[in-house]
Amino acid sequence: MKLDVLFSPVLIDELFFTGKTTVVIDILRASTTIVFALANGAKEIVPVGTVEFAVKVSGGMFGGQTLLGGERNTKKIEGFALGNSPSEYTSETVGGKIIVFYSTNGSRAIVKAKYSDNLFICSFNNIKALAKHLNKLNEDVIILCSGNNNFFCLEDSVCAGMLVNELITGKKINELTDASISAMTLFKAFGKDIYKMLSETEHGQLLIKNGYGEDLKVCSQLNNMDVIPFYSGNAIKVLK
Ligand code: MLT
Repeated sequence: MKLDVLFSPVLIDELFFTGKTTVVIDILRASTTIVFALANGAKEIVPVGTVEFAVKVSGGMFGGQTLLGGERNTKKIEGFALGNSPSEYTSETVGGKIIVFYSTNGSRAIVKAKYSDNLFICSFNNIKALAKHLNKLNEDVIILCSGNNNFFCLEDSVCAGMLVNELITGKKINELTDASISAMTLFKAFGKDIYKMLSETEHGQLLIKNGYGEDLKVCSQLNNMDVIPFYSGNAIKVLK
């Protein structure tokens, strides 16, 4: 099993993922929100690459069962039912619903990796559950960090390093790239206090400034969910 990490989606094009097993990470906040929404009973999440396409897609779906969720500059988008705070995605609000989802980095990274054979979503909340499944799958894995507007971001890279570390304990890894070794080193340096790390990152600081400080607590919870979001047929569902 070979493990590689991409610190930003800008480095590759969509076809790179053809036939691959890919994990997308966007800790602040898209992948955390996706894990929460599915754990709270959302039927599926449809990630899209633009706000315009989100409106078009949801307009085309049968009424009442679809919600528009996501953010622009961390804020809820006008006309959308939900923003991108994981705690908004309660079972009362999203139970049985389809969520058409747009976010600056996370949803676009997922759309970029859509040609993967296996495409999973990881956050600190479900990292052990996902690692266990990946070890069973025993395929080479590409971990794609969503980054911050195509730039490197610390939070996704630390989570990627934690996943590498988890997978190594599975003893099936026989090849680590420089990128996965570097991610693991970041995890060892910053992973001891995840909430502190998140609150000191660029995006963490922006979220605090914009009044979303509470989200950092939810995004820093470790292994409190065993839901594994899996992308198939243009939508993310719970892996059965
Ligand atoms: C993103 O996709 O960039 C993030 O989820 C943005 C955010 O929620 O603040």
